[in-house]
Amino acid sequence: MTSPAPDLFAAALATRAHSHSPYSGFKVGAAIRSESGRIHAGCNVENAAYPQGQCAEATAIGLMVAAGDRRIVEIVVVGGEAGSGLMCTPCGGCRQRIREFAGPDTPIHVYDAGSHRRSFTLGELLPFSFGPDNLGF
Ligand code: THU
Repeated sequence: MTSPAPDLFAAALATRAHSHSPYSGFKVGAAIRSESGRIHAGCNVENAAYPQGQCAEATAIGLMVAAGDRRIVEIVVVGGEAGSGLMCTPCGGCRQRIREFAGPDTPIHVYDAGSHRRSFTLGELLPFSFGPDNLGF
């Protein structure tokens, strides 16, 4: 699979710098390119009441919807420290959130804070998924 355009990685990295993650210390940035060609970037937002924290992907999806777009063309997730060798793959809940606005072939590019690690499709990360089509939408 091809790498995303550098602008999408740059947007994810820039928003990651704004991460509110005092409890985990784990900064994440996510950037979505939607069908209009626009980029929607968001970071994780933690909370002193821990379960109320929000993942970066959820922030980016909310911004996309608020901007009037409904379809994810590709998404970049940047998390962890540069050179850690550990990929920040979307959590299970975020895979389902992405599913609402993406199909099985949608690319998900996963980085640490430094280099491109790997690209997946949503179908690889969330096989046999439940989506709007299951409800007739
Ligand atoms: N996190 C994300 O923002 N996205 C993911 O897909 C995985 C985890 C955040 C949640 C929390 O603020 C921190 O990373 C540690 O779990």
